[in-house]
Amino acid sequence: MELKGRSLIEPLDFSPEEMDMLFDLAGQIIQNPDDYADACKGKLLATLFYEPSTRTRFSFEAAMLRLGGQIIGFSEPGSSSVSKGESIADTIRTVECYADLAVIRHPKEGSATVAARNVEMPVINAGDGGHHHPTQTLTDLLTIRLEKGGFENLTVGFCGDLKFGRTVHSFIRALLRYKGVKIILVSPDELRVPEYVRADMVSAGMEFVETTNIQEVMPGLDVLYVTRVQRERFFNEEDYIRLKDSYIIDLAKIKNAKKELMILHPLPRVNEISPEVDADPRAFYFKQAKNGMFVRMALIMALLGVTKEGESCK
Ligand code: NCD
Repeated sequence: MELKGRSLIEPLDFSPEEMDMLFDLAGQIIQNPDDYADACKGKLLATLFYEPSTRTRFSFEAAMLRLGGQIIGFSEPGSSSVSKGESIADTIRTVECYADLAVIRHPKEGSATVAARNVEMPVINAGDGGHHHPTQTLTDLLTIRLEKGGFENLTVGFCGDLKFGRTVHSFIRALLRYKGVKIILVSPDELRVPEYVRADMVSAGMEFVETTNIQEVMPGLDVLYVTRVQRERFFNEEDYIRLKDSYIIDLAKIKNAKKELMILHPLPRVNEISPEVDADPRAFYFKQAKNGMFVRMALIMALLGVTKEGESCK
């Protein structure tokens, strides 16, 4: 694979063909996971989480362990030299002395870029502030591809905190290159997408609509991507409390939706999807979380350049 030695910082770092290669490999792993049990034997993944995480960190760690590799890292920066004031550059340089690749999540935008610039090993951005989260996008795209076969001509609705939601920013950016995709953005006025995301859509010639009314747009959607209001990025708690329950997707709200609608959510969910929706065949968010591990297995293999036999690709 061409991806050997590369980093993944933002969703357009890989070409559509390279993404397809990853999705194909993830699909093969889903079919025969045991065949990959030794692919990363002798390799070490470092997970540097300066912000809380459940799915992203666990799925990366589970992915590496299921590939026969090993993991080191921290989930509490307070337990590492970060608490002594060490810079990202110095921490990542040190980690490179021990590990073959690193995953980093950090509250500051641009932190993964800084990390990648300071080392030779591949660095994967697992979320930099309210900016990007490209491996969540791989998860989202794989889930849609497995169900719908591709991305062209889909109408994709985003609902919730579109201002601070990095998974939204990355997913929209990735969709810019697929033909006929239409984006419907549903949020309170204060939580609309940042200007740079809007500018991206305009310059790509993508059709998009911004609205506050979910009911009106529901019947036209093929995919509904729901997000939590990102409490930790608000400047004051009162605004969070006022906006947090702006939309709650329940069975009544999806009554007039398509039968083939896919409801996605990067999770964690707070209140924005009622648990009664979980049993509906249109709820895909837990499948999506599972796919996250498989696509990360494919990504780790590709960046390390290993085959399922554990050999290095040329
Ligand atoms: C997301 C994140 O961290 O941005 N979670 C995840 O990685 N699955 C979404 C969120 O925290 O709301």
